[in-house]
Amino acid sequence: MYFTEERRTRLAEKLFDHVRNTTTDQLNGTLELDLSIYADPSLAEKEREKIFQRVPMMALHSSQVAEPNCYVAMRLNSSNIIVTRLRDGTVRAMLNVCRHRGATLVTDECGKRPAFTCSYHGWSYANDGAFKGAGFEETFGPEACKGRHLVQLPVEERHGFIWIVENPDGEIDVTSHLGEGMDQALAEYDLGRYHCYKSTVFEFPQNWKIMMDGLIDGYHVQFLHGKTISPYFYPNMMGIERHGHHALWGNPRKRIAEIMDQPPGSVELQRYVIFGNLISPNSAMVMHPHHIEYWTVYQDPKDVGNCFLHLRYLTPHAEHDERGHEILAKNWEIATAAIINEDVPAGNSIQASAEMPNTGSIILGRNEVTNQIFHTAYRDYLEG
Ligand code: FES
Ligand SMILES: [Fe+2]
Repeated sequence: MYFTEERRTRLAEKLFDHVRNTTTDQLNGTLELDLSIYADPSLAEKEREKIFQRVPMMALHSSQVAEPNCYVAMRLNSSNIIVTRLRDGTVRAMLNVCRHRGATLVTDECGKRPAFTCSYHGWSYANDGAFKGAGFEETFGPEACKGRHLVQLPVEERHGFIWIVENPDGEIDVTSHLGEGMDQALAEYDLGRYHCYKSTVFEFPQNWKIMMDGLIDGYHVQFLHGKTISPYFYPNMMGIERHGHHALWGNPRKRIAEIMDQPPGSVELQRYVIFGNLISPNSAMVMHPHHIEYWTVYQDPKDVGNCFLHLRYLTPHAEHDERGHEILAKNWEIATAAIINEDVPAGNSIQASAEMPNTGSIILGRNEVTNQIFHTAYRDYLEG
């Protein structure tokens, strides 16, 4: 379902080997990092300049603005924005800031409207951001408000997602950001046909990179999730395709044993393997048989030790019967409970450690491939 036969065969061969030999993908070396990277406000400032203001964020799924005149008002890293779909089907991303005196223009989360009117003094804008009119425009001075359009952000729709660069003067090129390998993988998933079933924003008292580290970590499952998730999986076992700054991986479920006497690739894998994706710098996607967890993590620009986690469930169908809703609700409960009860306390403890003096370095093992890819990408963006 998610893969072409070629990729499925390649992944199955790799994962079958790991299960037979009790191995996992490894890199040649370990990676040492300073624990203070999670607590240093000057580094957070540099991240805003070099990463969040420059690199395309995989900000939302296309179905969140499914039809013409649909809009979403959301928080990106440092900016409140509006994302709209126009009548011609294209999307726009704009700062949610009225050009009169700066009030928040759209105050509800989402809806369907061709234009927006500011509640403060009645200025209105078309959903492409064009200034339309002001309250008592004649007395205000029509010349002064002409051309005061909403500030546009670079935006691109690709592979079923809306990608945004937070800087109005920035440039966007999602294909080159993804590189050939990850662009191809996302093209194969074809997630433009999926639908956003549910969307929530969580806030946690830990740096955004700690949260990212947890979402892509296959090494901790047996320990931190020993009673919840771990019983279904082979521990410490990941088959990984690296695509530059991004990655695609599989964690075999115990039940993969049922298909290992068949030629690799002859059986669809999604019931037997959980696949994950790191889309650097701040998104991850976990592919379940009937839904996808799509995560994006942002800084809290006011507090280096706080982050915002956007979680969306994507499903192949827009409509669900009662049983379908039940299954999705149960899944949501299990996933968020594991995060909130297990991952978050561990992450918060890392944050507390990072805020202590004299703690020295931390280290990522040869088996922590996805975490090493994330931190390498992070370093490259910061230095680039
Ligand atoms: S601030 Fe929006 S109309 Fe005045
Ligand atoms: Fe976890």
